[in-house]
Amino acid sequence: MNFRPRELATAAILAVAACLTGIGFVHPAKAQNQSPQAQVAAAKAATAQGLTAGEFFKNVTTSTLKGLTPSDFLGAMGVMTAAVGYDCSNCHPGAGTDKFDWVTDTIPQKKTARKMVEMVAAVNRQNFSGAQQVTCWTCHHGLDLPTTSIALDKLYGEPNDEKRDIVATGEGVPSATQILDQYIQAMGGAQKLSALKSFIATGHSEGYAGLGGSGVFQILAQAPDRRGMWINFPNHPDRGISAWTYDGKTGWISQPRSLLGIWELNGSDLAGAKLDSVLAFPGQIKTAFPNWRVGPEDTLHDSAVFVVQGSGPGGLLGTFYFDKQTHLLARYVRQTPSPVGRISIQQDFDDYHDVNGIKFPFKYSFLWLDGRFTAIISDVKVNVPVDAAKFTKP
Ligand code: HEC
Ligand code: HEC
Repeated sequence: MNFRPRELATAAILAVAACLTGIGFVHPAKAQNQSPQAQVAAAKAATAQGLTAGEFFKNVTTSTLKGLTPSDFLGAMGVMTAAVGYDCSNCHPGAGTDKFDWVTDTIPQKKTARKMVEMVAAVNRQNFSGAQQVTCWTCHHGLDLPTTSIALDKLYGEPNDEKRDIVATGEGVPSATQILDQYIQAMGGAQKLSALKSFIATGHSEGYAGLGGSGVFQILAQAPDRRGMWINFPNHPDRGISAWTYDGKTGWISQPRSLLGIWELNGSDLAGAKLDSVLAFPGQIKTAFPNWRVGPEDTLHDSAVFVVQGSGPGGLLGTFYFDKQTHLLARYVRQTPSPVGRISIQQDFDDYHDVNGIKFPFKYSFLWLDGRFTAIISDVKVNVPVDAAKFTKP
């Protein structure tokens, strides 16, 4: 297997794959003899036994990472990798080739990273009552060696528009209920939306970094909480099928170029997949989170937006950017916690069209730690039968 550096960067995320092959990582020779299915089965058995990353992996010792599930541990690897602008092989020799060694500490950067994990935990404990205010990103911002002085062209240039994860309390803004109601109204109204039981949106994906380009793209959903997102390449069957599915209970990701290729979600990403499925039906948005708050008014692509944030069990966060004029949803970011920084997935929506009285975004972008694509939708069918296989294991 060969990975271009940037592509591998989030193999961790793609690689809950990696996570699930944990046993494979620990015993590379054995891994090569085991089918991916056998590896998944082994990893699931380990998770079912409640094994922590510290128990499951060979050489995982940091105070905050060793207690995670193996799956969430690999999510944390993805966050660290992105934060310092690395790919896995910058800390793990041979990562992305057949001669990988995840266990060894021969690369100094890996040893430094372990110290950094403890440092981050200590800083938060000693200064922020253990709340995760400081992460790898706080200092590194995509550089392996953080900068120390402000660049003057930045100081006198565009203001920094990076957003904090937890939105501050907005003053003089409508309540969350008002904003969500305006959204429901703008999408077609509660009555029409409650009559929406299924849909199939079809289009093509526009490529980014070799992923997803010129594929046939489909989102299929069945109320209340089943969703499948599929990309395939009729002219290049060798590129395989990318898919993200959730059937109301279990979730799967298929990424042919990732380490495992296909894996079942078993960490906090399962809660994320469920959230996406519930939100596929906009009339349900208020039920997506038990708690909502509204941040200060903001701008996104030069348009004024209301920012509404939902928080749920296990530190799950959903941040929604509603256009102030149209009340339509422009962006939705979901985040799950890890000790080194939150794991984020962003979805952008644009070019809304009316389909049978309900608004659908005809431009859709999906961004995660290891990739992104944009899909241009050309056809939406509502209340049509959807093959249940589209929600289960790809
Ligand atoms: C900046 C350095 C760094 C990068 C980049 C990095 N890791 Fe790690 N990795 C570590 C450290 C440090 C540990 C040990 C953590 C501990 O002791 O808690 C580790 C441990 C692991 C382990 C456990 C191995 C074992 O059995 O002991 C796996 C698997 C792993 N990493 C996978 C990945 C993957 C996949 C990527 C790319 C997405 C990646 N790592 C990127 C630093 C890194
Ligand atoms: C408080 C700021 C801060 C935080 C937070 C932080 N780092 Fe660092 N990190 C540094 C500084 C400063 C250096 C450079 C030290 C030097 O030059 O000797 C560094 C160096 C490193 C290096 C070595 C780079 C090289 O090329 O030698 C790695 C790897 C690294 N950090 C990973 C991480 C990871 C992973 C996290 C999150 C768990 C993290 N850092 C959090 C400040 C930070």
